[in-house]
Amino acid sequence: MRLLVTGGLGFIGSAFIRLVVRERPDAQIVNLDAMTYAGNPANLRDIEHDPRYSFVRGEIGDPAAVAQAIGEGIDAIVNFAAETHVDRSILDPEAFLRTDILGTHTLLEAVHERRIARYLQVSTDEVYGDVASGHSREEDPLRPRSPYSASKAGGDLQVLAYRATFGSPVLVTRGSNTYGPYQYPEKLIPLFVTNLLDDEPVPLYGDGQQIRDWLHVEDHARGILHVLEHGALGEIYNLGGGNPRTNLEITRRLVEGCDRSMESHVRHVADRLGHDRRYAIDSSKAMALGWQPRVDFEDGLTKTIAWYRNHEAWWRPLKSGEFLEYYRRQYAHREEESVGE
Ligand code: TYD
Repeated sequence: MRLLVTGGLGFIGSAFIRLVVRERPDAQIVNLDAMTYAGNPANLRDIEHDPRYSFVRGEIGDPAAVAQAIGEGIDAIVNFAAETHVDRSILDPEAFLRTDILGTHTLLEAVHERRIARYLQVSTDEVYGDVASGHSREEDPLRPRSPYSASKAGGDLQVLAYRATFGSPVLVTRGSNTYGPYQYPEKLIPLFVTNLLDDEPVPLYGDGQQIRDWLHVEDHARGILHVLEHGALGEIYNLGGGNPRTNLEITRRLVEGCDRSMESHVRHVADRLGHDRRYAIDSSKAMALGWQPRVDFEDGLTKTIAWYRNHEAWWRPLKSGEFLEYYRRQYAHREEESVGE
């Protein structure tokens, strides 16, 4: 199998490439990645010289870069390339529309023109919007509420439209909140862990009662590979971790795991604008296909904390330069309104 992975230097994309290299010895992988702030060559240091792996730098919205990555031909595209951070989408939405919608469109055009046999769109449970009760199913209406989730929903709809219009061989996965090694430290878990390891405070938005369903990155990567290999074309598959937790519960767990205290380290800060209270998805369709998450959440989180503790050389350089500027823009005004535990 010749596989084009886009966004393979990111968090979930790099886990997927490592999984494929490990478990599919016959696969050839081309990684097309724009190397934005979140695309980090260090995420694939261990396999970058593997003869089955090659790298092309470019944006998915650039048809010439996509053509170069496809080269003589490939069997499948898995699209991880995306702007993904809700808070950044509130500050600066344009890049989200460009990559998540127009970039997806460029890939779909290539799938159509080059007659590529399979295209998998990596999406998110956030496209369903805030779910007060119950669990979202694949056929539920999309009610995205942030510029990020609206961009991802726009990408999903383009994918499904190419199926309906051209019969394109597409699949969509919608994963829940993902955690694990190599996650850029802007997201809740790696941000809080690295702040705590540095003896810095952690900014908890609003009342901390928002609920997310946590999925280990290896389970997520395995789910995507499973759907790529076994999914029915034109179908959407939810991939949920089955570990719903409030942000406050997560924070407590991380504070304990880093040997800090809630009183000294947690700041209750101004809430995110339009903050979704709860995401919850029903994954029974992916489970009926034969996938299920394997990583126990408590164990996965303990090991994830240990990973960041033992890989300071990976995250330390990330918390400088652009990140510090972003952190100031994102959090300075919040901290003015902050209160401790
Ligand atoms: P995040 O990791 O940004 O993922 P998403 O918004 O895609 O779910 O945030 C997870 C939850 O943690 C979300 O409810 C927002 C909250 N959060 C904070 O309370 N403080 C923070 O500094 C961050 C980054 C997130």
